[in-house]
Amino acid sequence: MTVAPQILRLSLTDFRSWRSATLQVARRLVVLTGPNGAGKTNILEAISFLGPGRGLRRATLDAVAREDGPGTWAVAAEVEGAQGLATLGTGLATPAGGDGPHARKCRIDREPVGSATAFAEHLRLVWLVPTMDGLFLGPAAERRRFLDRLVLAVHPDHGTRVSALERALRARNRLLESPSPDPHWLEAAEHETAELAVAVAAARAETVQRLAATLFERGAGPFPSAGLILDGWMEQAALDRPAIEVEDQYRRVLRENRGRDAAAGRTLDGPHLTDLLVSFAPKGIAARDASTGEQKALLISLVLAHAELVATMTGIAPIVLLDEVVAHLDPGRRSALFDALGALGAQVWMAGADPAAFAGVATEADVFEIAPQHVAPAR
Ligand SMILES: Nc1ncnc2c1ncn2[C@@H]1O[C@H](COP(=O)(O)OP(=O)(O)OP(=O)(O)O)[C@@H](O)[C@H]1O
Ligand SMILES: [Mg+2]
Repeated sequence: MTVAPQILRLSLTDFRSWRSATLQVARRLVVLTGPNGAGKTNILEAISFLGPGRGLRRATLDAVAREDGPGTWAVAAEVEGAQGLATLGTGLATPAGGDGPHARKCRIDREPVGSATAFAEHLRLVWLVPTMDGLFLGPAAERRRFLDRLVLAVHPDHGTRVSALERALRARNRLLESPSPDPHWLEAAEHETAELAVAVAAARAETVQRLAATLFERGAGPFPSAGLILDGWMEQAALDRPAIEVEDQYRRVLRENRGRDAAAGRTLDGPHLTDLLVSFAPKGIAARDASTGEQKALLISLVLAHAELVATMTGIAPIVLLDEVVAHLDPGRRSALFDALGALGAQVWMAGADPAAFAGVATEADVFEIAPQHVAPAR
């Protein structure tokens, strides 16, 4: 059984451009329209903080605090989620006692929880935003982050592991900087690195394999199918060999290449260098060689398939955030997208400057007209 969580009420305080804003929502489709700079993307970004990580702009917690505001901020949502009705809240707060830097706080039904990972029991999130448009042309690091975000929606602990792996690699690199590093310390650093590396690689391999299968099953339609290949030996190995074997192999690689890595000042092998290779299936070409529109359609396919996968793997249909997606589609694809979103059953939040782009769903959606510091339900 799949549940489809729904935000019923969203409120923002001192978040980005918003002093305060409240949106009451009743439907599965939510549309935010209004002029450029009104604060539409900021609202989607606020929702994206109801999950682990840095949100859809990958901003730091300080950066989203309102300029000229108190430096603290809050996002709260009343959710009909996987655990029934709940209030999720997060933000930067003054620490108890009032001294020291602001700290991120997460609450469920007003009770503090350890981190935003706890929100995953109530809802999951996926998004497509314009900054992802250059995904196939940009550096591998961008696609790796995209990939890890895909995995995170299924495995909420994945983000913590990726960060821990980065820290372990930094620790190893620092040890290698010394002219005669302590072999025990090095051994320990490499042990930890290998353990985390295999966990990260295995989660990626599993998610991509299932995502590829989902894309294949969806087949051709208004949104093209994509081929997915993980370019990293460890992800390949994690699919068909026991984790412990892969871990041992990576430890050997690390041990044997200490000299090389010391000279380079970084670790030259491992899942921190993996790339996600995407192909445009209808033409059998690399996604980067597809046209601008084809690349955009491919991204939509990936996000739709991913949302479907999250629903089947976790039993929770993820809330979908789509920023500036609809306006770029021709009318046929636009209505195909609305159909696909309807079939997903999830709550979908769409933002765009052009109200006409949403004409096809205006009667079934909660439409909000957004102006600076002002939210007005259109009906
Ligand atoms: N930390 C902040 N404090 C105050 N204002 C901010 C902060 N960060 C961003 N802004 C402002 O928020 C405004 C609205 O941004 P947002 O991206 O949400 O607009 P939008 O409605 O999505 O516009 P567009 O249609 O152009 O995408 C921008 O003018 C930006 O300068
Ligand atoms: Mg915007």
